[in-house]
Amino acid sequence: MIKIKTAEEIQLMREAGEILAGVLDRLGEALAPGMSTMEINDLGEELIRKAGAIPSFLDYEGYPASICVSVNEEVVHGIPAEDRIIEEGDIVSLDAGVIWKGYQSDAARSFGIGKMNPKLTELMDVTRESFFAGIKMAKSGNYLHDISNAISDHIRPYGFGIVKQLTGHGIGKDMHEDPIIPNYRKLSRGPLLKPGMTLAIEPMVNLGTWKVGILEDGWTIVTLDGKPSAHYENTVLITEGEPEILSLTDQKAE
Ligand code: MF3
Ligand code: CO
Repeated sequence: MIKIKTAEEIQLMREAGEILAGVLDRLGEALAPGMSTMEINDLGEELIRKAGAIPSFLDYEGYPASICVSVNEEVVHGIPAEDRIIEEGDIVSLDAGVIWKGYQSDAARSFGIGKMNPKLTELMDVTRESFFAGIKMAKSGNYLHDISNAISDHIRPYGFGIVKQLTGHGIGKDMHEDPIIPNYRKLSRGPLLKPGMTLAIEPMVNLGTWKVGILEDGWTIVTLDGKPSAHYENTVLITEGEPEILSLTDQKAE
């Protein structure tokens, strides 16, 4: 069942999203070669708590940190470590979630560290753009898989691999609510979109194969061919008109 949020719930999700957007902006600015992925996690957790929110990932099904930091061939759910040092040319994907007054927001961005291989910049650009192509369809009266199809159609011409084993999701009081939101083409149209639905839309896109596996740590998702991957996610509200992106600051919108 897809929950329709009340005006009060939506306001709290707006506030949660604003906190999260600010945290991700700050983390993106802090990223630099020589930094460990644990330093990013610690800074992220500090910023979340200073804002009065709770890091939703910490202890979620046993996940041991507040920020997922996934480098290069790591797609998502990378576990921060003191000895994992970020280098020039890396793609660093940061995924974070906050709980604010009982309501959740979830968002992710990929950042290039210093001078990048142009192909990797393209991968990150196309991943982010595919989110915006998807939410063009995120309107009441459309169907959920219109979003999935638009994301897929944006990525396909570039020949990148679209991750299938992981999807976007509804979000609200819980981080993961109905519906599941695939990033690839579906034959069915899926549920009708209605105002008050809140969705975490999150394309994960690989330079090479779409196939992914999981490391022995039980969390880190990696590409099977070892080629890099990018991730972009926001919490989005379906309205009567244009969708509202809840987890993005104005300066970072496009
Ligand atoms: N942001 C992830 C998602 O959208 C959740 C991270 S899993 C966690 O599904 F364990 F790190 F919380
Ligand atoms: Co998510």
